[in-house]
Amino acid sequence: MKQYSFAYEELENDSLLNRKDKLLLSAARAVTKQAYAPYSNFFVGAAAQLANKKIVTATNQENASFPVGICAERALLSTITSLYGETLIETIAISYNKKDGRSNHPVSPCGICRQSLAEFETRIHQPIRLILSGMEGKVIIINKASSLLPLNFSGGDIL
Ligand code: THU
Repeated sequence: MKQYSFAYEELENDSLLNRKDKLLLSAARAVTKQAYAPYSNFFVGAAAQLANKKIVTATNQENASFPVGICAERALLSTITSLYGETLIETIAISYNKKDGRSNHPVSPCGICRQSLAEFETRIHQPIRLILSGMEGKVIIINKASSLLPLNFSGGDIL
């Protein structure tokens, strides 16, 4: 029998992050205000630390025709490549807020976003670190986004 596992870090709160990671998580938390989520009231913010020293942020953008909406993570990848081309992403912080303000546990990227993140790692030939946290509380750190998508379908299967 084969088995899959991966190690990740779980911190009690953001005070244990280094200065750079704390700044990135703050950017993800702050940008949740720009999310357009009138249907779910689930406001997601994502912030990427690029190797070129820039921080790029994005949010989820919903639509009355629900499947038209896009998650913050994929909006972020699209924004980054539109601004800088196939640039190196070191870390992505993801946070969220809700209408009732309850946001105290980390949430993970959805399945479609995991697929997008995995392919981006292939494109840049390096892992993308994830920092997941609500507006407060625990912080999860994952060193390679594609760890969240074992046995994934990829371009190599088609080409
Ligand atoms: N959402 C994200 O932006 N990222 C995720 O990883 C999970 C879900 C958005 C999609 C939708 O606008 C709202 O959150 C509720 O699912």
